[in-house]
Amino acid sequence: MNTKELSQSLLAWYDVHGRALPWRHKGGAHPSPYAVLVSEIMLQQTTVKTVMPYFERFMRRFPTVYDLAAATQEEVYQYWQGLGYYSRARSLHAAAQTIVNDFGGCFPNTRTDVLKLKGVGAYTASSFLALAFNRPETVVDGNVMRIICRMFRLTAPLSEIKNEIAARAAALTSADRPADYASAIMDLGAVVCTPRKPHCDVCPWRHGCLSAGCKDVESIPNRIKTAKKKINGYLYLIKDSSERIFIRCRTEKGLLSGLWEFPWSKQKLTLSATDAGQQVTHIFTHIKLTLHIFHLRDNNPPFSGKFIAWQDFKNYPTSSLMKKVYKNFSNFTQDPE
Ligand code: ADE
Repeated sequence: MNTKELSQSLLAWYDVHGRALPWRHKGGAHPSPYAVLVSEIMLQQTTVKTVMPYFERFMRRFPTVYDLAAATQEEVYQYWQGLGYYSRARSLHAAAQTIVNDFGGCFPNTRTDVLKLKGVGAYTASSFLALAFNRPETVVDGNVMRIICRMFRLTAPLSEIKNEIAARAAALTSADRPADYASAIMDLGAVVCTPRKPHCDVCPWRHGCLSAGCKDVESIPNRIKTAKKKINGYLYLIKDSSERIFIRCRTEKGLLSGLWEFPWSKQKLTLSATDAGQQVTHIFTHIKLTLHIFHLRDNNPPFSGKFIAWQDFKNYPTSSLMKKVYKNFSNFTQDPE
């Protein structure tokens, strides 16, 4: 089955078996973007079953975005009581005020504008735009990741294949019925392609799925956290007699090429440097690097590079690792010895 056939078979299944949920509108964009926003924020950390009565009560008390914007925070909290994660209530309240005050009561319908709403991150922006405006956005939550990994037998640790999953999920998203498709794939994950004992026999995607009916289907996705390799590095904050700091530009090929840095290496160098007793750690995809910081005064250090004023470092292109070092040592102005 090609991607179009897959999305059509999922939609055909959804038309018959899709759940009736209080915030759901089958057959295109939801007539109330407000209902979508409220439900998506409530569903961020809470199950469908728990959210249902809260959503209905909330919508009865605050039926429009204007009612919510005009409410006191105490009352919004009161209607959130029991749902937990109260920062969501604060964010939703603030988002309602933004919509009323900054958008003239019209719900934003572009990604850039939707992301201006408090409490709306990348996932909620996608689900909101798909469900409220029928935009061809792809929702990728835990359920969708599970479905995609099983479909394509992606068995590598989840943390390493997030981009591939997102690309495959996007390729399957229906351009004709994105709102229904978003609901459909959520339902598939919730009721068919469940974490345990998936119902492969009734799955609309069983003919295209590389894991359907396999004994090991429950082991996909692979949630094993790959242990990060721990490595040490030694970083030298070198000053000259004019209190300037030494930096160099990485020239060798690779991720850090062309970026400026304080010299460091994985081997400890034989320099008469003072151990600052401080470390900066940084996590790369597979590596945890601990940089041990050394101080040194030397007008001619054994590296190619140059001395600059400490505060000028921020004007150079640098890696996030070096930004972290710079930030940690931002008061590094006087002689360490
Ligand atoms: N999880 C997040 N959004 C959802 C929605 N609209 N329906 C069901 N489950 C969800």
